[in-house]
Amino acid sequence: MLINGVPWFDDRGRTVNAHGACLLEENGRYYLFGEYKSDDENRFAGFSCYSSPDLVNWRFERIVLPPQAGGLMGPGRIGERVKVMKCPSTGTYVMYMHSDDLHYTDPHICVATSETIDGEYTFAGPLTFQGEPIHRWDLGSFQDDDGTGYLLIHEGDIYRLSQDYLVAEEQVARQIARGGESPAMLKHDGTYFLMFSHKTSWESNDNFHLSAPALEGPWTYQGVFAPDGSLTCNSQCTFAFTLRTGSGPVHMYMGDRWSFPRQASAATYVWLPLHAENDRLSIPQYWGAWDPATGRPAELMGNEAGLDFSSDEPGQGIDIPFTGTRVALIGQSRPDGSYARVEITDANGAAVTSGYVTFYSKVPDHGYRYVSPSLPAGDFVLTISVLGEPSEWSNKHGERFGSVGTRLSLDRVLVIE
Ligand code: GLA
Repeated sequence: MLINGVPWFDDRGRTVNAHGACLLEENGRYYLFGEYKSDDENRFAGFSCYSSPDLVNWRFERIVLPPQAGGLMGPGRIGERVKVMKCPSTGTYVMYMHSDDLHYTDPHICVATSETIDGEYTFAGPLTFQGEPIHRWDLGSFQDDDGTGYLLIHEGDIYRLSQDYLVAEEQVARQIARGGESPAMLKHDGTYFLMFSHKTSWESNDNFHLSAPALEGPWTYQGVFAPDGSLTCNSQCTFAFTLRTGSGPVHMYMGDRWSFPRQASAATYVWLPLHAENDRLSIPQYWGAWDPATGRPAELMGNEAGLDFSSDEPGQGIDIPFTGTRVALIGQSRPDGSYARVEITDANGAAVTSGYVTFYSKVPDHGYRYVSPSLPAGDFVLTISVLGEPSEWSNKHGERFGSVGTRLSLDRVLVIE
């Protein structure tokens, strides 16, 4: 099952590190592309590609676009919001990205290409419109049923791409979503839906959407699509994907639950079915876990025990011995919550996995906070402790965001046999 808001682990036992992502399906496999984040800075560290047969088990393919030796994706740059589409007329995979300096004052939309889905991609430089680079930042991509490719831009600009996808050829919509970032589009029964976040840096906000009968419009503002005040289930939209399930197509919202500065370890994914009805999208309810094969909610099954641990003292923690193959921790994330260090050791005292999770969210949430990778059945001890470091950052105007404490609070443990 797909578990929201906890780190996912790949075939190497490392976190699935693909943020601001997009998803493609090819020959029965899903390919996830995203920002390969680090735990201490925001510099471009590459775009990653992972693949999966089921959206649950992920294989690391490679860094499909590594930092370049120089130029727009070279040293001293950031790289964000990678989007990939296969161009139907050339068969080439085309990658779009936001390139910028470390202060976000030199935005460019750039392009790279590859003959294979999993790269490596060759960086081509800025994407142009009427011969000029596009100096914008957050972007999304959309491929219409007839194969035409579109580039979506913050504030609600939409460009139609050339037949080879390498140039922006026509601007089909302009400023239809003032103040909107992280655009993501889907089509349902001939209606186009466009989602955006507001501008709160790595903090979540109540994302909104618009709908239209054609890409040129008219676009109608449709308000929030997740429960109002949930800050989009504490996430920011990045992409929409239509899954084929046993009971028909299911549109899926894909969002980021960012965690600055420890994004590689503790930023997570929130993916949920999206309902389209009467020109509106909705996520009626947050599901901690669900099954992408059916589009229905799910729960981890195991032996549950109560736990009562809450502390904000750096280094304070709890040891949880367990026998089984997997362990999950359930607790509260809240505005004064922050990072915890998790380590699992085997019967010989050797560490089998370790990492960081976060107990921060602006809107409190009770649910899964950590779910371990699957381990060979045995006796283990999980140790979780307060890191004592808030999850905090400033936006480009110096405004402070993030946690107001360092608390870790747990109330249940679930052991899977
Ligand atoms: C917003 C954007 C992200 C990133 C952060 C940086 O969340 O959507 O892509 O640029 O701001 O603060």
